[in-house]
Amino acid sequence: MSTTSGRVKVAAQDGPRELDPHQWRGDFPILEKKVHDQPLIYFDNAATTQKPRQVLEAMEKLYAEHYANVHRGIHTLSEESTDRYEAARDTVCRLLGGVSREEVIFTCGTTEAINLVARSWGDQNVSQGDEILISEMEHHANIVPWQQLAERTGATVRWIPISDDGMLDQEACGSMLSSRTKLVAITAVSNVLGTINPIKQIIDAAHANDALVLVDAAQSVPHAPTDLQSWNADFVAFGGHKMLGPTGIGVLYGKRQLLDAMPPCLGGGGMIRRVRKEGFEPADLPDKFEAGTPPFVEAIGLATAIEYLQQVGMQSIAAYEQQLAKLAMERLSAIEGVRIFGPGATDRAGIISFQIDGVHAHDVAQILDRFSIAVRAGHHCAMPLHLRLQVPATARASFYFYNTSEEVEKLGVAIEETQKVFRKK
Ligand code: ALA
Repeated sequence: MSTTSGRVKVAAQDGPRELDPHQWRGDFPILEKKVHDQPLIYFDNAATTQKPRQVLEAMEKLYAEHYANVHRGIHTLSEESTDRYEAARDTVCRLLGGVSREEVIFTCGTTEAINLVARSWGDQNVSQGDEILISEMEHHANIVPWQQLAERTGATVRWIPISDDGMLDQEACGSMLSSRTKLVAITAVSNVLGTINPIKQIIDAAHANDALVLVDAAQSVPHAPTDLQSWNADFVAFGGHKMLGPTGIGVLYGKRQLLDAMPPCLGGGGMIRRVRKEGFEPADLPDKFEAGTPPFVEAIGLATAIEYLQQVGMQSIAAYEQQLAKLAMERLSAIEGVRIFGPGATDRAGIISFQIDGVHAHDVAQILDRFSIAVRAGHHCAMPLHLRLQVPATARASFYFYNTSEEVEKLGVAIEETQKVFRKK
């Protein structure tokens, strides 16, 4: 059984290897699909990623051969499911650089993980006059829970500004930190601008002011190595479906002493040690925060996805996607009338949001779809950021390691064709 407590050891990591997307693309059935009679070019990876056969098969195998509810029955199938669920937790611990399994809570996604902290830690520790710092580039999932907490408690949400080229204003961040700051909630990578934030520096500065830090790692954990021992973050949230895993599974990492002191968020089966008419006593970590039947098949799918990503190599994925982003920036910025938002290639992950002069982002996405290119258009769940950029909507191409430089070139051509369509109108 792998359900004993304690820190999970991590094997030494390989350095980056040259990544050939064609070595991996064959594992993804959907990448063989044709859209409008042309091969699909899937550039909507910041919204969700495609699934390799290995993940689909692992989940099917679980349902077909080992499926029963976890932690409840002392029968063979229940033990088989439970073992696999807890082994999935170990896999997450290793991905995060060897944290303890008590510190890894399975949730249904990034959003639920952040809300859990806002409700459980927030309601216990934040009160009138306190401040929560968030940045102008946050996703709504890392804005609204703090606004709701502020409404409940009388605390204030303050906004760390960004520069015109989409970089966090670190100086402003430093000067906003004070004895009133209870928490800094910040994204590791912007889901719109692709900006890679200096998380370690932000955490060090916050800790020097006795503030805690929650990192929204939804766009970073899937694309780069994550070493939580070096970050020293207090809470980290990410989801499974943006990293080859299924929907309905996410992770909240929290430092053990914080999670230990926090009250459970949801009440129900699985999260208690005992229940009496007079009240209940919560279970130990991590069960305390996993009320009800957890998404254990999804957790096993996520673990398979993590093992797959580790085979590809997290460092290689990060390096390759940065190369693709650089290529795309060079190609798109050479087209007159295209404006790219966010920083230069060195500070950017594989996400590029852009605007074509005189064409609404929704029209851009619709025309690109005719070229079988899938991009997202709109505010990308980041309305305050779009207000800051003074643009109602952007089109966004976001890459994963299975994308190719040929696909990036086709995006460039399709954008030029889009401009021609609108010039004719
Ligand atoms: N958060 C996802 C995105 O940025 C859905 O598209």
